[in-house]
Amino acid sequence: MDRYITLIDKLKQEHTLSSKEWTTLIGGRTKELSDYLFAQAREIRELHYGKDIYVRGLIEFSNYCKNDCLYCGIRRSNRNTRRYRLDEDTILSCCQEGYELGLRTFVLQSGEDISYTEDRLVNLIRKIRGSFPDCAITLSIGEWEKTSYQAFFDAGANRYLLRHETYNDNHYAMLHPAALSAKKRRQSLWDLKEIGYQVGTGFMVGSPFQTPELLSEDMLFLKELNPQMVGIGPFIPHHDTPFKDEACGTLELTLFLLSCIRLMLPKVLLPSTTALGTIHPKGRELGILSGANVVMPNLSPTEVRKDYLLYDNKICTGDESAQCRNCLEKRMESIGYHIVTARGDSLNI
Ligand code: SAM
Ligand code: FES
Repeated sequence: MDRYITLIDKLKQEHTLSSKEWTTLIGGRTKELSDYLFAQAREIRELHYGKDIYVRGLIEFSNYCKNDCLYCGIRRSNRNTRRYRLDEDTILSCCQEGYELGLRTFVLQSGEDISYTEDRLVNLIRKIRGSFPDCAITLSIGEWEKTSYQAFFDAGANRYLLRHETYNDNHYAMLHPAALSAKKRRQSLWDLKEIGYQVGTGFMVGSPFQTPELLSEDMLFLKELNPQMVGIGPFIPHHDTPFKDEACGTLELTLFLLSCIRLMLPKVLLPSTTALGTIHPKGRELGILSGANVVMPNLSPTEVRKDYLLYDNKICTGDESAQCRNCLEKRMESIGYHIVTARGDSLNI
């Protein structure tokens, strides 16, 4: 036990561990160790952010996707998904609704939908920027050429979320079709950073074939990239994918890694994700208590929510935006934290 406590103390003080130390810590975790780790992560989170929770309004604007990631419910080969694409006016009304609910960051997320071309997205971003000048616009629309990232940035987008999914080339190839590579994904992240975006990356916890050794590579990559945001959530199987019989990522490992990330990157923006709320009724609250500081209420129109099914049993698919926001507010208050309506830019710019 002492050996592991020493590693946690080292992480808290030096914000880094070697590859071997990461593998030891992740592989050797126990309930007592986790409790100690959570307390350290909460202390650091409260040092920088107090009890504040940032909110980001998520708009899932299209579930068309040209990709075929093996884990993902809206992958191209899933013929059972009812496809939808919101038009610009609908997206703007979602933003308006979010604005009235006090949200000052909109996250536009979609599959890689070829109908939403660079020009079309640039126009959309300009419209949102013009209508909501005090809001941050975050994109989560997959991989593009660097010139497109630049065009979106010039149109007014500020932040970009692109999970690296897994650092390891072989592991990446087990989760994705051959057309996609870990190297290209990572290059996108460096490009986005260079352009000036606040960048978010991350991975699924408990994805098929993941090991403590592979997770240690993910942690070292996070350290190297030093993103403004890190999104991690449990892998959850979807019944219409090749991974339908694989095990879910666990609450326990997700919380452990959230705390590790808080100690490694003390000021990072760290969401407590919907996937975490899906595998446990109090998952999002527990995520906050492990060092997370962001929640993402859903602003997508209620009629399409069930169609943006990345994994089975996804929560919040029947609620109105206002219900989602209020539900999160109550949940946060129940554990002594409170939602703030600021844009919530990273302290780590
Ligand atoms: N197309 C964009 C992209 O590739 O970044 C954004 C949408 S994609 C569905 C967003 C994230 O959902 C992925 O980065 C992945 O980590 C997560 N995801 C997909 N399928 C999942 C599953 N079965 N369980 C948990 N998370 C999943
Ligand atoms: Fe494209 Fe999941 S395969 S969003």
